[in-house]
Amino acid sequence: MAGRILIIPDGPASLLYATELVERLRRRKYSVQVAPTAYDGPSATAFVSELAWAALSGHPCRAIEALDEAAFREQDLILLGPVSPAVHSVFCRGKALAALQGANRPVLALLPQVPGEPLPASPQDFLSLMPPGSVLMQGGIPHSLGALGQVLLPALEEVLGQVDRLLTRQDYEGLRVLVTAGPTAEDLDPVRFLTNRSTGKMGFALARDAALRGAQVLLVHGPVSLPVPRLPNLTPIPVRSAQEMHREVMKHWQEVRLAILAAAVADFQPLHCAETKIKKGEAQELFLPLKRTPDILADLGAREKRPFLVGFAAESDDVEANAQLKLRKKHCDLICANDIRKPGCGFATDTNQVTLLAPDAPPLALPLKEKSEVAHAILSEILQRL
Ligand code: CTP
Repeated sequence: MAGRILIIPDGPASLLYATELVERLRRRKYSVQVAPTAYDGPSATAFVSELAWAALSGHPCRAIEALDEAAFREQDLILLGPVSPAVHSVFCRGKALAALQGANRPVLALLPQVPGEPLPASPQDFLSLMPPGSVLMQGGIPHSLGALGQVLLPALEEVLGQVDRLLTRQDYEGLRVLVTAGPTAEDLDPVRFLTNRSTGKMGFALARDAALRGAQVLLVHGPVSLPVPRLPNLTPIPVRSAQEMHREVMKHWQEVRLAILAAAVADFQPLHCAETKIKKGEAQELFLPLKRTPDILADLGAREKRPFLVGFAAESDDVEANAQLKLRKKHCDLICANDIRKPGCGFATDTNQVTLLAPDAPPLALPLKEKSEVAHAILSEILQRL
């Protein structure tokens, strides 16, 4: 991700929380500068030295008292926090406020909450003072400050999600999107099930990118070990079987303008799921009767007033011909075809290469890239066709 962030940490939360935040922002390729608070008392520099902040961020520290409109304007985002209510109020009045408003850069403020005490700030008051697009996050989950006790702060994943969103062009704003992702699990008995190698990476990347670009996203996903993206405008709907996934998609498809079905749905399920564990006894062979699962993509494709419909085709041979067949048979608007035998493609990899097929356009091969970048490119292509 690209963007320049100025982070203003304060107090004991600097020690563990803010240092990790700086480190994780850098890992996401943001350019980070730190302006630690420095006063007599529990300021940021009382817990982490200026030298340490500089080493962590890769840039010399900015002096907090020298932050003026020009200094804020150099940034894409001001991350105010975690800061104590006292420091927060300094930024909500006087010189600092005028400089922030003049620079017109969004502010993401993080306010720690002491467990058992009310939230420190009123979001309405804060947002009415801050430049447009600013966000206040306060309270959250307990974070240990070692011997200094505990504070409630949002999970770092949620903060990183907000940062990504604030620094992403909101070209999906106002759009409702449904994404299916991951495998399904078809139970044989209380212990065993049939599934496949899908990890959910591609579908999650699509759901996350759409949400970062402002869409309201419903993510219907099968059982995965990958963490589900955490963004305020992304609602995960966990399911287990193809039947359940079908039911959830049928419940919601009329609400959305775009449906991207990236799940690797099992095509068959056991005819019966045994209520008790199947015992092997003396059997040397076991035959499992299976029945077809509902085809969610084909079912949506057959609807008259359906959303813009995007399917996936993971193929091992005759990739384009097979994908073209799926495009027509399932009445999709777009199929993302990939050759699972190509190095760096398919299940459980971090990269992918897809070719986009539409009924009325020549095939478009996207380059082999990280799945997050492939997702971004697919969504940009979709936006042009919507
Ligand atoms: N799909 C679905 N419901 C199913 C099966 C597949 O929605 N029961 C969707 C997938 O999410 C994907 C596309 O259909 O978007 C894949 O098409 P499909 O023909 O089912 O692919 P395969 O399962 O690989 O089919 P085949 O084994 O015939 O190649």
